[in-house]
This record gives sequence, structure tokens and C-alpha cells, in this order.
Amino acid sequence: MLKRRTAFVTFAIVLVSALVNAQSVMPVPAQITKLSGSLVIDSSFAVSVSAGGDKNVSSAVQRFLQRLAKLTGIFSMKQTLSGETLSTLNVVCKEKSRAIPSAAEDESYTLEVGTRMAVLNAQTRFGVLRGLETFLQLVELGGNGFHVPCMTIQDQPRFAWRGLLIDACRHWMPVEVIKRNLDGMAMVKMNVLHWHLSEDQGFRVESKKFPKLHELGSDGNYYSQEQIKDVVAYAAERGIRVVPEFDMPGHTTSWFVGHPELASAPGPYEIERKWGVFDPAMDPTKETTYRFLDTFIGEMAKLFPDEYFHIGGDEVNGKQWSASAEIILFRGKNNLIDNHALQAYFNRRLLAILKKHGKKMIGWDEIFHSDLPKDIVVQSWRGQKSLAEGAKQGFQGILSHGYYLDHIKSAAFHYAVDPIDTTIANLSEGEQKKILGGEACMWAEYVSLENIDSRIWPRTAAIAERLWSLSATMNVDDMYRRLEVASRQLELVGLTHRSSYTQMLERLAGSNSIEPLKALADVVEPVKNYERGRTRQYTQLTPLNRLVDAVRPESDAAREFAAMSDDNKRELLRLWAGNHALLLPIIRQSPLLQEIEPLSKNLSDVAEIGLRLLQKNRQPFSEQEKSRLKDVLDKAATSVGALQLMVVPTIKRMFEAAQKGRE
Ligand code: ACM
Repeated sequence: MLKRRTAFVTFAIVLVSALVNAQSVMPVPAQITKLSGSLVIDSSFAVSVSAGGDKNVSSAVQRFLQRLAKLTGIFSMKQTLSGETLSTLNVVCKEKSRAIPSAAEDESYTLEVGTRMAVLNAQTRFGVLRGLETFLQLVELGGNGFHVPCMTIQDQPRFAWRGLLIDACRHWMPVEVIKRNLDGMAMVKMNVLHWHLSEDQGFRVESKKFPKLHELGSDGNYYSQEQIKDVVAYAAERGIRVVPEFDMPGHTTSWFVGHPELASAPGPYEIERKWGVFDPAMDPTKETTYRFLDTFIGEMAKLFPDEYFHIGGDEVNGKQWSASAEIILFRGKNNLIDNHALQAYFNRRLLAILKKHGKKMIGWDEIFHSDLPKDIVVQSWRGQKSLAEGAKQGFQGILSHGYYLDHIKSAAFHYAVDPIDTTIANLSEGEQKKILGGEACMWAEYVSLENIDSRIWPRTAAIAERLWSLSATMNVDDMYRRLEVASRQLELVGLTHRSSYTQMLERLAGSNSIEPLKALADVVEPVKNYERGRTRQYTQLTPLNRLVDAVRPESDAAREFAAMSDDNKRELLRLWAGNHALLLPIIRQSPLLQEIEPLSKNLSDVAEIGLRLLQKNRQPFSEQEKSRLKDVLDKAATSVGALQLMVVPTIKRMFEAAQKGRE
């Protein structure tokens, strides 16, 4: 068996051997050698597994076969007994892996695809999982049905920590949202779900020790302990760790609804409904606080088997502390010079509790303090600089600055952010090793279970690639080409980022005739960074049902328009120029669409300008006309309904080029 494989692989290498980009695999594997020919995928496809008794490998292969069947429509494919000669894919896993992944698993694999069979080799189940995802992404339709091109791949991650934070607090995210996102993460080889479980706006886990936490802090929207166990097992099957975050001592209003005695100022407290940074913080001076946390963390430590426990630690404004005479006295007695020193004291106490329950600490930038031991992990939301400074002092870190999905930046923007940025700091090899990876962050002020997938995907696949692939993998055009393919595949694994778009547009239009609405929606993006919160007062109870909630974070159409030939541009500009007249009747009958009437008009207006600029043998514009057109373009560049028209910069550039040229 092995002999046959070696023979055909050698033969194929002699035929063709070239290093190429993978077809559409995302993240790009470390090394690919493309060979000639391809492996046909048909109803005789069978997988044999040799896994030294690791049952989790066979169940991974079963899930793989279901995915392959869904991808190809061929439903008779099967898993054969190990050693059967008729297999098409031979999966070899060298060692039995633990059921729950640790933070340092070997995820490497090799995949050799020949014309008669393929072999996937890995040391651990985690490598098998990553290799199976690669195989699925290599399946193509063409020529004579489905096939995988012959090649050899040798692959392993650049960073060990490749995470996605999901905030289930500001907006409630039921288990099915978490599970489908775990499937998406597995597809792009991410391995940490950072589950943000407590916030001012919600406490989302059942506590049997302190039931008032979830009973009074969640509006009834919390995960039962059975559900948590189910999600942790689901993630582990896919080689994904689950790191829970209980944010302390700030961001804790929801805890205090049931337990005001934990706070630094007397209650009563209510679940916070607004967004922002709030004053309530735990009282770090009371022994009762630590007794409570010891019991609570003990309970949660059993529920979440990962070795790390995230304590948050961000954005403590210290107002409640500075307003309390007892707390000021305590600070003085303990030589704690400021509130940051008081927070460091709190963290040291917390660290002892975590250690007692067998956990390592991870927290946001603000926990960084030279007193803490070096096995904590600092998660940087403030930038590569603080990450590098931590690494120089021997602290491990992960990067999230630049990976905030709620900032609604492009995939290209996130793709350019590297956890190890050599332009910011010169780190030795040893210091670089302290940087474990990064996490995309999906903060949930402006996402609901309906549109969260579209904020996470497909952009997170670009971040996943940054964290998995070699640092030299930087071709943005190729990234976008593969991102489009990955986006369709992500929908196949159960995500709803594409289907929810159409669904929400149909709801806004009140019918399935959405062409003019979609023509506009395709070329707009939500405003960036924290601008949305400045446009009006939002709370947890504000419905997220407007066009800004339906549209995608990144307009592919606008990006493609910028790169088009004049002839192709002209065609689109004609469509947009006539679009306002078609959209107006739909806008007039939909209360939620009224706000976008000026946006729709702006699109048609700038399209008219674009058409005029592309006119052959055009008379130069008069000075007066130039000034009028400039005003129209400037007006169209301002946001309407928290939306930006993304084709304006390109038309502005065309206008400016015309000024520099003939006029
Ligand atoms: C954070 O964004 N406050 C972690």
C-alpha cells in the first residue's frame, strides 16, 4: 500500500514540480508542490483511517464525508476499515490525542494527492482536522466532474493561538450562532473561541452556586451548564479551545443586579442598556469579594476545561473607587499609589484563585504589570507596541488591535496587520516566540443573531490566514480571489452571511423584487470605527433592522468598480444613474427605508458625473460647472443613515484626473 503511494508520488514529481499558490485554499498552506493530473471524486470515494484507536479521528472523517457529500452531491461515499485497499483517501494519525485541545498542539500535516489516491499524514488528530479542511477546499468541479488536483502539501501554523472573540453579552447569541461560527472557524483552521460571557449588559452563564447572577443579570438569555458542556465538546471535536472571559473588576454591572454586595458603591443596580464605559466596579478591598470569586471561579473552572481563564480587566475608570472613603483608606494602608496599582492588587488576588483552580490567567492590556508572573497572557487591544513591550519583558501576548471586526474595516486592512510588526519593534527570536498569535474580536453593540455572521465572515478568513500562513503570504488580490471562494464555502458549512443579506433586503423592500435596493446596498458600507454610536443614541433594545444592518461590511462591487476598464465602468454607471427612479417607489412605501432616499439620489447623481467624465469628445466643464460637480461629489461623500457610498472616491479620482488633464 505504502509502496504504491511512494511510487506514484515520485513519478508525478518527476513530471512536474513547481511551487505555486494553492488553488483556492485559505489559509494558504506553508508549502505546496503542484503535480500533474488529478484525483477523481466520485461515488466510489472511500476513506480509510489508521489512527491508533483514536475514535475522534473516525468521527472527524465522518463529518468530512458529510461535508464532501454536500459539496459534490455524491451521497454514497464511505469510510472503510483501516487497511482496505480500495480507499481513495488514506488518513494516518500517529498518536492518540487528548479529547480537549491544549494551547500547544502539533497541528502540522502533509497531504499527498495522486491520480489514484491521496494520503493525509499527521502526528495528531488536530493535524488531521486541518488537513481534511485543506482537502475539502481543494475539491473542484471541472473537466469531467469533481476532482482534486494532484499536489503535495506540507503545512503547519505560523502562530499557535488563532482566535475569534464572540461577545454574547451586549446582544444575546444563542447556541446555534456559536456552533455555526465554530464550524466556520474550523474551516479556516482557527483554534480558539474566546467567549465573552459577562458584561455590563448581560451575565450569560448559569451559575448553580450563585443563581442570581444569571437569573437577574441576563433577561433570561443565558447558556445552561449543559449547553456550555455541549459547545465545549463541539469545539473540541473540531480542534478548537474555548476560553471563557468573565470581565472583572469593571464591565460588571450585570453581576451587581443580583449581587450588589460585590460592587464598590451601594446599589441597587439594573442591567445596563446603553453602550460605553461605566462606573460600576467590584470592590477589591473586601475579603467577601475574593471568597465569592473563589467559589464562582471554582465552579466555572470545572465547566471550562481550557487551561486559560480570561479575566478581562479592561477599561476600569476607577470612579467608584475614588468616590469611596474606605477604598481610598485601603489604598493608603497598602501603599497602592493609584487605582492602577489597586487593580494590580486585585489581579494578584485573582491570580492566586485561578492557580488554586488550575488555571492560567489571560487578560486585556490593562492587566499588564511587572509584578505578575510570566506565564500570564496579555491580549493587546491597544496595539503591537504594547504587545512588543510585553514580549521584551518576557510576557506572552496575543494581538487583537487591528482585528476588531466591529470597526467595519476591509479584509485588506486586517490582512496587513501582523502580530509581529518589525517596523514597530525589533524583537529577538526568543521575544518573537512570546507572541502567541491573535484574535479577531466581534464586539456585539451593533450585531444581532441575524447579521453577526456577516460581520464575522468572510473577513475573519483573511485574519485566519494572517495567523496561519507564512508572513510572506501578502498578495491582496489573491487573498480577495480566495476570500470569495471561502465565503461561498463558509455558507455551505452553515453560516448565514450571504443568505441573511438577501433576506434582510427582502424584508426592507417588502417583496422579493429587490434589484434596485440591492444595486444600492452592494455599493455602500456601514460607517467605520465608533462613528455609528455618534450618529444617534443606541441601546441594547434598539432594533438592528435598518439598511446599515443588512449591508455587508465591505463592498466588493465598489472595490471591483475601482479596478474596471472604462467600458465596464460605463455599464455600471448607467445602471446606477437610473437606479434612483427605480428605487424611489420601494423607499416611499417602507418606513425603514425613508432615511436612505438621499443616499439613493447621491448614487444616481455621482453616476451621472462618472458618465459625463467618460464621455468621448466631451466639451471641457465651465468653472461654474466644475464647482457644482465638486459640491455634488463632496455631498455624496458624507454618510447617510450611517452608510457610506463607496464608489464616490473612485469617481472623485476620475474627476480629479480630468482636471489635471485637459481642463
Ligand atoms: C476592549 O476593547 N475594551 C477590550
